[in-house]
Amino acid sequence: MTLPTLTTARLRLRQLVEADREAVVKVFSDPEMSRFFAADFSDPAAASAMVDRRLAYRGPAGQGHWVIERDGEVIGVAHLRPSSELPGGVAELGYYVASAYAGQGLATEAAQAVLDHGLHALGLPAVWALVHENNAASRRVAARLGFLDVGSGIHYGDLHRVLVSLAPVAGRPHHVELWVPDLAEAERSWGWLLGELGWTEFQRWPAGVSWRLGGTYVVVEASPAMSAPEHERTRPGLNHLALHVGTRAQVDDLAERAADHGWRPLFADRYPYAGGEAHYAAYLENEAGFEVELVALEGPQAAD
Ligand SMILES: CC(C)(COP(=O)(O)OP(=O)(O)OC[C@H]1O[C@@H](n2cnc3c(N)ncnc32)[C@H](O)[C@@H]1OP(=O)(O)O)[C@@H](O)C(=O)NCCC(=O)NCCS
Repeated sequence: MTLPTLTTARLRLRQLVEADREAVVKVFSDPEMSRFFAADFSDPAAASAMVDRRLAYRGPAGQGHWVIERDGEVIGVAHLRPSSELPGGVAELGYYVASAYAGQGLATEAAQAVLDHGLHALGLPAVWALVHENNAASRRVAARLGFLDVGSGIHYGDLHRVLVSLAPVAGRPHHVELWVPDLAEAERSWGWLLGELGWTEFQRWPAGVSWRLGGTYVVVEASPAMSAPEHERTRPGLNHLALHVGTRAQVDDLAERAADHGWRPLFADRYPYAGGEAHYAAYLENEAGFEVELVALEGPQAAD
């Protein structure tokens, strides 16, 4: 699994590889580096075992472990990986910069690059960080990155602040509006499907209804201004709406039950890989000709 290289004004973050072992052990050689950790990584054997654990990463694509390089020299490590401490395997950020380079804003710069990668390139809804209660420098880094402090708890064996950075709202879909020829029919298919995926009814008026999930809502409306009696997905305009579902089994289950709620399968002969080998999805069409794509999560989370 390859991680993208992230470049900042002063740093280069590239995937950690076996050849970095010695340099990483050196980064951790100052006992101060481990001051807030349960283990003392100034012990080369402990640091080397930590490198082993990082090299063994097999989590979701795009997440993992980077070395932080300054002018070609490894000065630290950063990671973004499913949390072993927080529920649901949410993405957790970590950063470590050698004492000799401290106080120059380098951890902030490196962590910002990893955070942007997680929220923007990977599209994660949130990135979490756990910082020891007394680790003032790290708490300062997180604050400068805009992390929200949402409480504290015992993590990694001691009291840690629980911090989160949420994906920015700007640029995300506010709502999608579908004009439909038959509102009751649309409500039966869209209302059922969106309800199954956790959307709840938001607005209702004689010609329309909407359902909301988080900050986004979907409207179906039988507008009197509609200029054609049917939707044709192969004409210019909306071809389909694609929605995240969950595991592959959940996609299978939803696609099967959708048949009782006004949806029929599309590209059934190529199910579940009609969208490509690495893309597990169900394609459905309702009575009015609207297509929806139900997409499974990627990576290990896709399996039950
Ligand atoms: C924490 C760590 C990453 C900071 O690295 P860094 O490159 O010095 O960080 P930056 O220079 O980007 O920012 C550090 C900030 O903390 C402040 N700071 C440093 N020591 C501090 C202290 N003892 N008390 C209060 N603030 C402190 C700095 O002034 C700076 O804030 P500012 O830019 O607003 O002035 C680094 O010390 C480290 O690797 N420590 C060991 C590993 C670790 O604890 N990692 C974090 C795990 S959650």
